[in-house]
Amino acid sequence: MYRIGLGHDTHRLTVGTAIVIGGIWIEHNRSAVGHSDADVLLHAITDAILGAAALGDIGELFPDNDLVNKGRDSSELLREASEQVKRAGWHIVNLDCVVFAERPKILPHREKIREKIAGILGVNIELVWLKGKTGEGVGPVGQEQAISAECIAMIER
Ligand code: CDP
Ligand code: ZN
Repeated sequence: MYRIGLGHDTHRLTVGTAIVIGGIWIEHNRSAVGHSDADVLLHAITDAILGAAALGDIGELFPDNDLVNKGRDSSELLREASEQVKRAGWHIVNLDCVVFAERPKILPHREKIREKIAGILGVNIELVWLKGKTGEGVGPVGQEQAISAECIAMIER
């Protein structure tokens, strides 16, 4: 039996020195704002696998009004979510993700990010794909006011 799930996330950008994308910190002059570490890609992946398994969503499992989740490493959230998915009898078939960012470029960091995500999920790196897309200079992404990410995940029982 196969299921698919979709995850989407957006974070506001502000002046900063680094941004975390897929668990990898990248030096940058904008930072993402959020209750946790604001890792837009890990949040989209978390929602995609939870959605595929019909196990809830990230805000439901890790409420942003709970102090325990303040500044929290999103790797921990994804690891916990993936453990719940596994406990429910599912394994990940593959993930495909898009980061919507005017900057920084994802391509130079892609292999490190894929490796990090695969490590968190305990899967082969081949099962994790990722690319970046600009906002072509327009809209919240293009004007560097926001960063977004989407992930589609397939799981199998
Ligand atoms: O050329 P097109 O309009 O399809 O895409 P783009 O948004 O202009 O981005 C061109 C290429 O840059 C993408 O296909 C990615 O390989 C790369 N890119 C990236 O690595 N990281 C981003 N944040 C944006 C784009
Ligand atoms: Zn988020």
